[in-house]
Amino acid sequence: MKGAEPGGRRAAPGVNMSEKIFYVTTPIYYPSDKLHIGHAYTTVAADCIARYKRLRGYDVFFLTGSDEHGQKIERKAREKGTSPKEYVDRIVATFKDLWQRLECTNNDFIRTTEPRHEKAVQAIFQKIYDRGDIYKSTYEGWYCTPCETFWLERQLQEGNCPDCGRPVELLKEESYFFRLSKYQDRLLAYIEEHPEFIQPVSRRNEMINFIKGGLEDLCVTRTTFSWGIPVPFDPRHVVYVWFDALVNYLSALGWQDGDEKFERYWPHTVHLVGKDIVRFHTVIWPIILMAAGIELPRTVFGHGWMLLEGGKMSKSKGNVVDPLVLIDRYGVDAVRYYLLRELPYGGDGYYSEDSLINKINTDLANDLGNLISRTFGMLDKYWGGIVPEPGPALAPDGELIETAWEAKSEVERQFERFDFAGALAAVWQLVHRANRYVDETTPWVLARSEEGRKRLATVLYNLSEAVRILTIWCSPAMPVFPPKVWEQFGITDRPELHTWDSTEGWGKLPPGLRIKRGAAIFPRIQEERAGERVAVETGGKDEAPKSPLQEVKASPHAESVPCLEKQGARPEITIDDFARLDLRVAEVLVAERIKGADRLLKLEVDLGGERRTVVAGIAQYYTPEELVGKKVVLVANLAPAKLRGVTSHGMILAAKVEDRLGVLTVERDIPAGTPVR
Ligand code: ME8
Ligand code: MG
Repeated sequence: MKGAEPGGRRAAPGVNMSEKIFYVTTPIYYPSDKLHIGHAYTTVAADCIARYKRLRGYDVFFLTGSDEHGQKIERKAREKGTSPKEYVDRIVATFKDLWQRLECTNNDFIRTTEPRHEKAVQAIFQKIYDRGDIYKSTYEGWYCTPCETFWLERQLQEGNCPDCGRPVELLKEESYFFRLSKYQDRLLAYIEEHPEFIQPVSRRNEMINFIKGGLEDLCVTRTTFSWGIPVPFDPRHVVYVWFDALVNYLSALGWQDGDEKFERYWPHTVHLVGKDIVRFHTVIWPIILMAAGIELPRTVFGHGWMLLEGGKMSKSKGNVVDPLVLIDRYGVDAVRYYLLRELPYGGDGYYSEDSLINKINTDLANDLGNLISRTFGMLDKYWGGIVPEPGPALAPDGELIETAWEAKSEVERQFERFDFAGALAAVWQLVHRANRYVDETTPWVLARSEEGRKRLATVLYNLSEAVRILTIWCSPAMPVFPPKVWEQFGITDRPELHTWDSTEGWGKLPPGLRIKRGAAIFPRIQEERAGERVAVETGGKDEAPKSPLQEVKASPHAESVPCLEKQGARPEITIDDFARLDLRVAEVLVAERIKGADRLLKLEVDLGGERRTVVAGIAQYYTPEELVGKKVVLVANLAPAKLRGVTSHGMILAAKVEDRLGVLTVERDIPAGTPVR
């Protein structure tokens, strides 16, 4: 049956509503300058949801493009001494290149200077005019060219644009107007009846208030410049750039040509946009569609901004970070992961390269990358490079599988509501659980006995299956590394083991696979790299930024990586070098001062059945009483040394800065003697 969608929409003719169809769009960006990571966020988010929906069996159409007309572009081109078309051609090429470099899988790229688009804009403009909702009058008021927005005198803030704070220009020209006011009540009713139309709910509430404040008819043509689409019945006028731009979502589907793409994908549509342009997409756009008799898109999702110290990153403010440099330096998956994980649902995030490096080193290298490499490493070392046949499940196995089960529905729930950070956090529940599973089951101990090896088979199998499942869940966000994991498992040609559905239940990975260990998938960013930073370009754009970066305090999210260069960074070591250290949890049983040595304390520590004496140079920082009962970290295989007549069997770890020192202790209740890695 051709059923009604939620919200009671009619089924498009010829479309079976039970089919899974999904149309996702990004804003079409202005080719006024190169794009920065703020734009990269929206397109990567759209790509992530497109990939996710394809994995879930949807027929997906993913659109991005460029918004090439308008006064801003015309002026930019003139400044550069070129024609607008030459100017945009050059910049649009960089957009397409960037989306490729970011592994974006858009099905089309629409340029508003293409004939297929110009035709559609003229057709819809004519249609609305013929229906009487566009009329001629004179516009007298203000215009912000960087924002391409009309403002009333009373809306200005201290005489400037209320959105971007820049000066506005006074316009007085004969214009055509679009009757927004006529549709105010219909629009409000629609928004109220369709809670899925504006998301998240905070933006929905903002827009409801905005519309209740009253809609004025909108000026939709200009005569004082010519870089635009001519009004079909009055070619001295060009169509207002926002009216022109919004129509891209239809023209790319071939709406005016009776293209089956339009029949198929419209209105199963999600417009992903930044919060700066939610208003255009939830007022002007739905009213254009209502006036033309076209169904409304299902959802407009308005995400927050990626901020830099000094406010929002913007081409026109000129404080931008070039994504290409970040991709070259850190890899596509890392950049995509960072963007998607850093912007919280509905809110703003702060970009800093330190927090990017930090995320790579913790989430990707330490957590996910380490899980993958230790799994393949142990398969090699303990099972001859073969995925074992699992035996009967014990308690921690059940918990691991339970975590996977819960995480899966959470990942799905979060992707469905466009909470990319939330979806990745849910994936990491399983990453963390699987790492803990290794620590709990101690495969290196199991490997030592015949009895242990029976258990080891199950442990290694479960880890392998966890890695397979996690790889699939990560793939919408990070598309580059999964093929490397398939390669290592030897399942590149087994697509049935890469599907979303194959993560339902546990145990689809076939035992007996012969693995091929490969290089580390997410290497740590070395500290000397952390010394270099991608320069934030400032100035030289539309005008000087309002708040120079150097005057503003570091953003609250910027957890800085310590500058090891200053403290003398050491040469790189391999994991094997590191493995030569025997680090252990040690519980301090007794602590006392050593006569005649005011910097030393003598400690008796428990190493899990073994008791040792250790001398530590921490007497200026800790009283003996403070230390008793603490679980510290001991270098247990350090050659013994005699200090003030006492032999020390090991060294406890501590961090020291200026006149402060803190010994390393262990979070959670971990028994004395447990190895530290
Ligand atoms: O507005 N953080 O184009 P635009 C997050 N041509 N997202 C950001 C961002 C930031 N700091 N900076 C930009 C236009 N964006 C119109 C659109 S659509 C019919 C016409 C993203 O080049 C975000 O998606 O100014 C924002 O809405 C969009 O880029 C604005 O791009
Ligand atoms: Mg903008």
